[in-house]
Amino acid sequence: MSSVDSPRESWATRLGFIFAAVGSAVGLGNVWRFPFQVGQEGGGAFLLIYLLFIVLVGFPAMLVEFVAGRYTERNPVGALKQLGTGLWEYVGWIFVVTGFVILSYYSVVAGWTIRYAVLGLQDGYLADVEAAEAQFVSLAVGLEAILLHALFMAVVVTVVAFGVERGIELAVKVLVPAIIVIAVGMAIYAFTLEGAGEAYTYYLAPDLEVLADDWRSIVPAAAGQAFFTLSLGMGVMLTYASYLQEDRNLATDSAIIIGFDTAIAFIVGLIVFPVLFTAGVDPAAPGPGAIFVSLAAAFGDLTLGWLVGAVFFATVAVAALSSAISLLEVLVSYLIDERGIGRVPATVALGGGLFVLGIPSALDLVLLDLFDGFADQILLVLGGLLLSVLVGWRRSDLAITELELGIGDLGPYGDAWIWAVRIPVIAALLVALTLGILGYIEFLQDDFWPWVQEL
Ligand code: PFF
Repeated sequence: MSSVDSPRESWATRLGFIFAAVGSAVGLGNVWRFPFQVGQEGGGAFLLIYLLFIVLVGFPAMLVEFVAGRYTERNPVGALKQLGTGLWEYVGWIFVVTGFVILSYYSVVAGWTIRYAVLGLQDGYLADVEAAEAQFVSLAVGLEAILLHALFMAVVVTVVAFGVERGIELAVKVLVPAIIVIAVGMAIYAFTLEGAGEAYTYYLAPDLEVLADDWRSIVPAAAGQAFFTLSLGMGVMLTYASYLQEDRNLATDSAIIIGFDTAIAFIVGLIVFPVLFTAGVDPAAPGPGAIFVSLAAAFGDLTLGWLVGAVFFATVAVAALSSAISLLEVLVSYLIDERGIGRVPATVALGGGLFVLGIPSALDLVLLDLFDGFADQILLVLGGLLLSVLVGWRRSDLAITELELGIGDLGPYGDAWIWAVRIPVIAALLVALTLGILGYIEFLQDDFWPWVQEL
């Protein structure tokens, strides 16, 4: 544990932390995962539960990670060892495993965004939605997908191995506004489409019947998506906060990060559904291809759409890069801090392992679901739950004191936060986890097992 005595690195500028945290949060979760979850879980009913999870669970849970990181100044495994004793020491391991699983398929999807950026330059977007769907299926799996996954992974490894994230921090400053500008422009275009009205009703007006019928799958999907998109539940925010000085107001910072993240996902929904409804496509049908199919169709329909599309997908690929870096950085910091392995060998070895683990996801979408469902609905929620129990019930005094640094006396708000973590947050995560496990078993029986038998 050599790092204990040496002064720890910290963010170069006051805004470095915010940029990096926003860069981690904004990624494929917002642009790729969010619209396809909305589609699969029945539209507005999902959006409503998702937003509730973001505000009522995501916000307090982000503060939990921030105080745990800033207080311990450690990687997740080291932080858990410092905060808890006995079995708690092993909880950090869950974070490491989660990060490993997520990054493996995240890189595959990032490869798709590279492919779609290139597709724009080739003027290859197809205005017909069904043709775009077929095109997605042909591009998403196979050798090309594996090669692009390798390419993306290699870039992530290079950046993390050489510790040049500072450049990425700066890129985020340009990227997040760029994504917002292009997405708002596309949402305005989508507004002019014939199916927009119907799409807005589907997306924005929660259908309570859908909620009553499907809450068992909506709740874990919303919880998992909230954690995924905010980079919570696997120690990324904890690690980033561990490099922080004590003068930052963590509550304001969380609100800013969550605000940007939620706004981007929301706007993406305003693009995807009008396009799909106008083409008469069931919004659940394109699955993980939702964003690719609907945007390719929209870009295929627009003058200069190829150019806007190429810029958009390239921007998303870089946003995915800043998120992937944050994931790999946690794994690497664990190997460096706790195992004494050098940065370069640690990064290269992890990158190799991640590439191999990602290959199945690039061969069949069912396998991507297998990894994504497990990581998202089970592992992330479990990690968030355990950290909330530890900080909320066992280390609440230090948590409040830590949160007050940079803010001042919280008075009753400190207690309100801890009690929110202790009861509603933990209860919501417990329910989501239980339903998530049941849903995953169902997925194994209904989708995965038949797929295995067909082999
Ligand atoms: N939040 C990122 C996104 O929405 O794309 C993905 C992610 C990054 C998830 C880091 C988890 C994580 F720890």
